[in-house]
Amino acid sequence: MTDSQGDGVGGATAMDLYEKLTAQGDKVRSLKTAKADKAEVDAAIQLLLKLKVDYKGVSGQDYKAGCPPSESAVVSNNGQLGNGAEEDTVDPWNVATNSAKGVDYDKLIVRFGSSKVDQELVDRIEKVSGQKPHHFLRRGIFFSHRDMHQVLDAYEKQKAFYLYTGRGPSSQAMHVGHLIPFIFTKWLQDVFDIPLVIQLTDDEKYLWKDLTLEDCQRFAVENAKDIIACGFDVNKTFIFSDLDYMGSSPEFYRNVVKIQKHVTFNQVKGIFGFTDSDCIGKISFPAIQAAPSFSNSFPQIFKGRKDVQCLIPCAIDQDPYFRMTRDVAPRIGYPKPALLHSTFFPALQGAQTKMSASDANSSIFLTDTPKQIKNKVNKHAFSGGKDTVEEHRQHGGNPDIDVSFMYLTFFMEDDEKLEKIRQDYSSGALLTGELKKMLIETLQPIITAHQEKRKNVTDEMVKQFMTPRSLDFNF
Ligand code: TRP
Repeated sequence: MTDSQGDGVGGATAMDLYEKLTAQGDKVRSLKTAKADKAEVDAAIQLLLKLKVDYKGVSGQDYKAGCPPSESAVVSNNGQLGNGAEEDTVDPWNVATNSAKGVDYDKLIVRFGSSKVDQELVDRIEKVSGQKPHHFLRRGIFFSHRDMHQVLDAYEKQKAFYLYTGRGPSSQAMHVGHLIPFIFTKWLQDVFDIPLVIQLTDDEKYLWKDLTLEDCQRFAVENAKDIIACGFDVNKTFIFSDLDYMGSSPEFYRNVVKIQKHVTFNQVKGIFGFTDSDCIGKISFPAIQAAPSFSNSFPQIFKGRKDVQCLIPCAIDQDPYFRMTRDVAPRIGYPKPALLHSTFFPALQGAQTKMSASDANSSIFLTDTPKQIKNKVNKHAFSGGKDTVEEHRQHGGNPDIDVSFMYLTFFMEDDEKLEKIRQDYSSGALLTGELKKMLIETLQPIITAHQEKRKNVTDEMVKQFMTPRSLDFNF
């Protein structure tokens, strides 16, 4: 099946065609009822048939009245965007683009069928929460969403929601990019004062990587320490390992099975690109990542309620899981989770791909010493500067492709300072070496502080966070 949203017939999306079809069906019926001229009825039927063919071509589904195209059908060829030289790959396992500026996120919004986090939404978050929006929101790092307005509407009417995010514990080594969703989730938890569940998918990493179950469970606990070091409130946060929690919670497993019953092999093939030779564990795993989106998977927190709305902050590559989840939700009687998507944290070598823990030189690890940070940035951070000082002074650098500048947009909180750096670098007043120095001096204290906080996370604290229990919240 071909990519659907933008490449549809005459640019029509599956949803456009669905709506046209529904209207055309009504028209045919009313012409027949009115006993209209045969030629007119025939022409209307011809158009209806043509629309049905177009619809199938774009959505991959047969038209059924009353069944709009499912969200998971909207992007089906595994996140491949555009064509030819412009192709960006974005799926839970790969991120790649040819552009030094990184993935074209506006295009991604169109292809994935999500909505842009625009100024209006940022202003609304400010109004509803009463807090200055986090710089990840102000700077378009959390750039896309699904149903955020609905979440805010309900919150304004005193209807609380909960947060769900996660991490695949594939190694002990976490890098700064891994912190982005957690830093933001912590901010959301603080400003909205709501519960949070964090899924550690040790089962997923066992299924996908060459690791033992014991490795994965050990990494889950180690990663939990880094997550706890971000400052989550133990009275409002439940962290769980799938390998642990799944077996101890009938409610969670019941939801997994419900989801499994409502998604076909064909659908997950379309969404995730699974093939006949993938193990069946992978094929059924998406149901496990979907289950925490439903509040009754956590009876100890939500006291059996199944209608508490969920908001998932995550990097955009996780969206396929949640397109599937949103597709299933109404069919099993649950609200669809809302989402806030972030851009990727670029690799040191350039924004063509994201930071990867398996390539030591592409990443700044949370365990790096100040000296290692300095060396990595100086040696590997891709520069948008010119080759010689003279040329740089004359023409200026390009912050849009400069990795050090990109990292500063993630970690430098002061908007004015950042804007001044952008201008000075673009004009040539600021040299690459000077820009790198600013990044090094910004990162070193953040990483050192993280290491201090992590050192203070005891096994006892990890156990507390990971024990199923009621949280400080009345639902
Ligand atoms: N699959 C994610 C990973 O590999 C982990 C994950 C599970 C997750 N549930 C999530 C991420 C919810 C974001 C939101 O990292």
